[in-house]
Amino acid sequence: MNKIVIAIDGYSGCGKSSTAKAVAKKLGYTYIDSGAMYRSATLHFLNHSVDIYNEQQVIDSLKQLIISFQINPASGLQETYLNGQNVESDIRNMRVSNYVSEVSTIKAVREALVAQQQALGQKKGVVMDGRDIGTVVFPHAELKVFMTANLEVRARRRQQELAEKGQEVPLQDIINNLADRDKTDSTRKESPLMKAEDAVEIDTSHLRFEEQVDKIVQLAHETM
Ligand code: C5P
Repeated sequence: MNKIVIAIDGYSGCGKSSTAKAVAKKLGYTYIDSGAMYRSATLHFLNHSVDIYNEQQVIDSLKQLIISFQINPASGLQETYLNGQNVESDIRNMRVSNYVSEVSTIKAVREALVAQQQALGQKKGVVMDGRDIGTVVFPHAELKVFMTANLEVRARRRQQELAEKGQEVPLQDIINNLADRDKTDSTRKESPLMKAEDAVEIDTSHLRFEEQVDKIVQLAHETM
């Protein structure tokens, strides 16, 4: 069977990452979390007090940015590393969540990260999730999925995920963050979030996790 590229895009908190991860596992593919890359760049700028409105500072700082992924042997889960440091937990906190969409509007940041994402997908057999994967990163991906879900459903799921990691965040804060990010992501000039013409739309509001995973795996088999 031919290996393909599966691009999964959609609004914040639709469960793209967990779905993409499970799809990759079922197919024996590599999962790449492009959002983790934008989050890592954001953390890097915060840690180094980079003025994101100063283009030269951003460009210089991007030169010092190395993002990689490694599987944690204990959990079997993929974790994100920023310049050799495990930042998997730090990149998910609200400080980064509240700033990442602003950072993601910057052209230089997108160019640097898109180039890395394209290199990671070269060998195929990849599931990548994000906002512009089917439109910009892999416009020729064999399978494109666009995930949506009701805002409150998404916020409750995200609250549960954060609680499982020991972070108690009020529901309204999460609703505000998701709505703000959707707005910034959809209206930005550089590669805005939108459904690729040839993407299959899946509304997960009333789907169980297994159902959404199986749906994509089935589409993948039909495409291979
Ligand atoms: O996927 P996740 O919610 O972790 O992504 C965090 C943020 O990174 C998004 O809200 C968006 O601003 C940005 N992002 C992006 N393009 C991608 C992936 C993420 O602009 N391909």
